[in-house]
Amino acid sequence: MDREITEKSQRYFMTSVSMITSNGSKGQNVMAAEWTMQISYEPMLIAVFIHESSSTLKNILETKQFGVNVASEDQTNSVNIAGGYSRKEIAKLDISNAFKLLKAKKLNIPLIRGCIINAECRLVLSKKIGDHVIIVGQVVYIRHDASKKPLVYHRGKYFRIGSPIDSFRQEVKINSDLFDLFSKCANGKFVFKCVGALIKSKNTLLVIRDTEPSLEIIPYFEPTRGHDYYDSLKRHLKKSGLLLTLKPKPFLKRLIFKNDQRIQRVNFILFHGAIKKIPSNFKWKLIKQNSLLRALI
Ligand SMILES: Cc1cc2nc3c(=O)[nH]c(=O)nc-3n(C[C@H](O)[C@H](O)[C@H](O)COP(=O)(O)O)c2cc1C
Repeated sequence: MDREITEKSQRYFMTSVSMITSNGSKGQNVMAAEWTMQISYEPMLIAVFIHESSSTLKNILETKQFGVNVASEDQTNSVNIAGGYSRKEIAKLDISNAFKLLKAKKLNIPLIRGCIINAECRLVLSKKIGDHVIIVGQVVYIRHDASKKPLVYHRGKYFRIGSPIDSFRQEVKINSDLFDLFSKCANGKFVFKCVGALIKSKNTLLVIRDTEPSLEIIPYFEPTRGHDYYDSLKRHLKKSGLLLTLKPKPFLKRLIFKNDQRIQRVNFILFHGAIKKIPSNFKWKLIKQNSLLRALI
């Protein structure tokens, strides 16, 4: 691969920046490491990728302990010093206008004050991988400061985290009977995920017949987690007497149902289908007269 291009592309990753603290015969130390992340919940494990010539790595391999201090947005000065100098050159943690220290609870390591997360880790694995060494630590104590915001690193520059993005959902006002039906199925889930078949004929859609017309909706169901949606839908439709051909490529409708003050988020994975003859428990329904059918096509 063209080296110049890969070097440029590498800069387009986006990370947080941690300050890795350690103790050992190289003295108390801190280095900056953008390649730091949690890799397991239980036990809680954090991985850091460190270059072989760093004093930090020597300390960690010697004492089998390290601290992960995730930098907050007001710590660019500390990060620049931690990442811009080696312990071989200067005792970075002694620079009084760069670091304020915090006492560790369980391990014999320094921690940095003012971070969004401070974790104390015991080394459980180290292995050379590519041109860095992966070190994995099991967290023995962790604290966070909810008032802090993380520092973001991208293209060699530091950024503040932006405002949250509300991902778009199409709003559909539905009648209270249909809302009750969906909210019962959702059973408190933040997003109700279902799969359905969209069978269109001119300006109508195939719906399941109901004594209550307000409850008539396309054939759909809640698939079992981890099971193939297409196969499950085919089986479900066959059971309800619908013999049809389903196109294999799905499309997604992210909807938010509204009824008075109530809301329910619903994701429909839909497959287009075609049918020759419809069984008596199904019927064609005009799309334009129904808000949900309009939203689904
Ligand atoms: C923002 C930033 C991120 C860095 N991320 C890493 C990293 O993930 N892994 C690494 O080995 N070095 C990384 N470095 C470089 C080290 O922090 C640097 O080599 C440091 O001087 C090592 O210090 P030490 O020799 O005292 O351990 C980063 C530097 C900066 C400024």
